[in-house]
Amino acid sequence: MTEKVSRRDFLAAGLAAGTAFLAGPPAEAAGDPAAFVLKAAPSKFNIVGKEYPETAVWAYNGAVPGPLIRKRQGDRLRVRVDNRLDQPTTVHFHGVRMPNAMDGVPFVTQKPIGSNASFLYDFTLPDAGTYWYHPHLNSSEQVARGLAGPLVIEERNPIKVDRDLVWVLDDWLLDASAAIAGGFGHPHDMSHNGRIGNTVTINGRVPGELSVRSGERIRLRLINVANARIFALRFDGHAPKIIALDGQPVSPHAAADGTVILAPAQRADIILDMTRPPGSRFTVADSYYRGRGYRLIDIAYGAGKPIRGAPPETPIALPANPLPEPKLAEAVRHEVVLEGGAMSGMMGGRMGGGPMGMHAGGGRGLFWAINGAAMPEDMRRIEPLLTLQHGRSHILTLRNETAWDHPMHLHGHSFRVLSRNGKPERHTPWLDTVLLHPRDRVDIVFVADNAGDWMFHCHILEHQKAGMMATVRVA
Ligand code: C2O
Ligand code: CU
Repeated sequence: MTEKVSRRDFLAAGLAAGTAFLAGPPAEAAGDPAAFVLKAAPSKFNIVGKEYPETAVWAYNGAVPGPLIRKRQGDRLRVRVDNRLDQPTTVHFHGVRMPNAMDGVPFVTQKPIGSNASFLYDFTLPDAGTYWYHPHLNSSEQVARGLAGPLVIEERNPIKVDRDLVWVLDDWLLDASAAIAGGFGHPHDMSHNGRIGNTVTINGRVPGELSVRSGERIRLRLINVANARIFALRFDGHAPKIIALDGQPVSPHAAADGTVILAPAQRADIILDMTRPPGSRFTVADSYYRGRGYRLIDIAYGAGKPIRGAPPETPIALPANPLPEPKLAEAVRHEVVLEGGAMSGMMGGRMGGGPMGMHAGGGRGLFWAINGAAMPEDMRRIEPLLTLQHGRSHILTLRNETAWDHPMHLHGHSFRVLSRNGKPERHTPWLDTVLLHPRDRVDIVFVADNAGDWMFHCHILEHQKAGMMATVRVA
């Protein structure tokens, strides 16, 4: 075996490799325009750069990330998934509000797609925005090996920009020969921060630079498909404006401290006006984890003269999606408590005698619980965490009683974030995945308008695997 290389080496090695960022056209299946085919299979892909061997990955249609699926709001999406892996899988279209049977959750909404079997996902797309797709079975390994792809749903009347780019941000744990390291579901990862890698990629490559023209306006769609890494991106010399979060429009605003925070599964659409002079150069840096900041990519201005003198005055606010507005006054309240993990002081205490104790539970790989219950990965324990009356507004108070970050994701709905630690949340954004820092208390609200059993889980995939998962029933 080879020694582990630091991610700095990989970044340095990758800087030489240019990367194409422009999203390509939708890859419709030849001869069958109605159904787009996604084939999940082992493949090889050059992630780190030409100086390194190709990496054996699991991929959709042979590439990481999988193909960009680009549709328009109101379109019907039909995707046939052909499983050519040697293990079962499913596909979940993350953030899309759809009928329960299409949600891609094994044992809850469908049977797993066996090796050499297929499944047709078929639903309409009610909301415009930036979404993504990924397996929902053995996700901590299947996603880590490369199964994830972007889904862009265009507005009927899009805002005017010069370029619309997608950055799929991923994080890989590679060894010195650029092979994916094993050790999936390691107890340390499961009970701490999750599987944090050593090689960060944009659109499947260690990034070099983004070439821009002075004066141009870019809509950049950021998607975090990493198992566990949280990003805090600072665009030096620029002032990104956030126009959508998790696909849903938000009143355009400057990113706080100029930094865009993106937890696993979250998306942010930002407007970048390239206001700097021709020939200049800036850095996009990620500094989420204290003392472990690094340069992600450079922004390189071409020599050509500016295409305009000042940022365009055309609006950047996106049209709202048809989400039901919750009624706060009549909302039903529910409490959801996240517990467990290393250093919580409670694994050996309150839960110590029960099945979820660090020692007892850890032996079965269950380190976390929601309202005292841990759901194993095979999802056999499916009594709902909550039953929500259909058509009503519900406020969930999420309390993170752990020492760790948790991006909590609800399927089938978008929710507004009302408050955080007692303070009203600015812009009350619509999200499908909300990041809770240690000890955070966050109130979310939504109309339970979509009937079915919906997953509610942490999107740090090692936490999900280790029990931080539940179902919410809307009936
Ligand atoms: Cu993106 Cu339940 O997942
Ligand atoms: Cu978590």
